[in-house]
Amino acid sequence: MPISVGMVGLGAFGTHFIQPVKDHPEVARVALCDLDEQKLADRSQQFGIDECYRSLDDILATDIDAVMIITQPWLHAPQAIQAMEAGKHAYSAVPVVMLPDGDEMLDWCDRLIEAAERTGMNYMMGETGVYRPETIYCRRRAAAGEFGHFTYAEGHYFHDMSHGLYDVARWRWGDRWDDSRRGGIPMHYPTHSTGQIIDITGAHMTHVSALGYAMPGDDWFLPGTYWNNIYSDQVGLFRMSDGSMARIAEMRRTGTPGIDTFRLYGTQGSFERNFAGSTWLTADGQEPVDLSAVEDPLPEKLAANKGGHGGSHAYLVHEFVMSCVEERLPRVNAWASVRYLAPGIMAHKSALRDGELLEIPDWGDPPG
Ligand SMILES: NC(=O)c1ccc[n+]([C@@H]2O[C@H](COP(=O)([O-])OP(=O)(O)OC[C@H]3O[C@@H](n4cnc5c(N)ncnc54)[C@H](O)[C@@H]3O)[C@@H](O)[C@H]2O)c1
Repeated sequence: MPISVGMVGLGAFGTHFIQPVKDHPEVARVALCDLDEQKLADRSQQFGIDECYRSLDDILATDIDAVMIITQPWLHAPQAIQAMEAGKHAYSAVPVVMLPDGDEMLDWCDRLIEAAERTGMNYMMGETGVYRPETIYCRRRAAAGEFGHFTYAEGHYFHDMSHGLYDVARWRWGDRWDDSRRGGIPMHYPTHSTGQIIDITGAHMTHVSALGYAMPGDDWFLPGTYWNNIYSDQVGLFRMSDGSMARIAEMRRTGTPGIDTFRLYGTQGSFERNFAGSTWLTADGQEPVDLSAVEDPLPEKLAANKGGHGGSHAYLVHEFVMSCVEERLPRVNAWASVRYLAPGIMAHKSALRDGELLEIPDWGDPPG
C-alpha cells in the first residue's frame, strides 16, 4: 500500500529529495517541514505541496507514515529516534550523528539501535556512495565471485575546504554561528569512505590504527574551538572482519579536485577508481570500465532523473520507500549505519593517541 512521507529539513541538500519522493509511485502524499518559515513557503510553492509543518514535533503528531530527516548532522540520531518512537519510519542523511565527542556519538549509536529494536520501525541512513554506479558495478562482480577473496580496500573522501565547506559550516549553524564553531573532525564523517567497502565486501572494520595531519598555520582546524581538533586530514588502517585490510583517507586540505571513491583488491580480480576513471584488473591485465550505463531498476520517473551524487538520490528514495512498503529492512539499516560510522570515531581516538591500535565497537547484524 502506498505510504505518506514527510520531508524534514528543506535546506541545500534536503530540497533535492522532494521531487523524487513526489514522483515515486508508492508515495501517496508528501508533506514538508522546516523550522524556517521562508524556506517552507518557498518549497511549498516550488513543488506544489500544501501540507506544511513548522517543526518536527508537529509533523510527528500527524498520521504520516515516514519522515526523511535531512537536517544538520548533529540532529539526525535524536530526531530519528524521536520519529521511531512516534511510530514513524525514519530516514536520515549521513552520518548517524556528528559531534565533537566520540563517546557521545557512540552513545547515540547505542540509542539508535535500541530504538530500532524496541519500536520495530525502519531507520535508513542515506549514504550516497552505496548507490553510485561504481558501487553497483562492484556489487555485481562481488556477487558473481569475481573478486575472489577480498584482500585490501581503500576508501577516499577528498573534499578541500576551499570547495564550499567554509560556507556549509556557516549556513548549517545559522544564527548560532561564531568563530568558535570553526573546524570539524574529518573522521567523524567517514561514511563516504567506509560505506561502499562495507556494503560490497559484506565485512566490517574491527580494529584501527590512525594518524592525523595538521597543516602549519591552519586557521580553521584549531585547538580550543567547539570541535577542538587540529587534524584537517586523517588516515586510518583497518582490520576487517573477513581478515582483509582497509585504508580510509578523510582529507579536507587536499590539492585535488575532490572525489569520494574506493579501490577494492581481491585474489581473483580488483577494481580501481581515481580521477582518470575506472579500471577492472586481474593477474592477466586490465581493462577500462565504462560506468555510464550501469544502473539498477527504478520507477520510470525516477530513472529519467536520478539526481546528484552519481545518480544516487533516486535510489536512496526508492530504497527507503520500498523498505517501508514491503515491510523489510532497508539496505543501509540502523545496524549497517553504525558500522559505517564507528570506524571513524575510533580512528579519531587512535589518531589522538598517535596511532594506538583500537578495537571498534560493533552492534552486530540486524535481528533475523
Ligand atoms: N553526499 C551526501 O550524503 C550529503 C551531501 C550534502 C549534505 N549531506 C547531509 O545533509 C544534511 C543537511 O545538509 P544541508 O546542507 O542541506 O543543511 P542545511 O542547514 O541547508 O539544512 C538543514 C535544514 O534543516 C532544518 N531543520 C533543523 N532542525 C529542524 C527541525 N527540528 N524541524 C524541521 N526542520 C529542521 C533547518 O531549518 C534547515 O533548513 C547534513 O546532515 C549533511 O551531512 C549529505
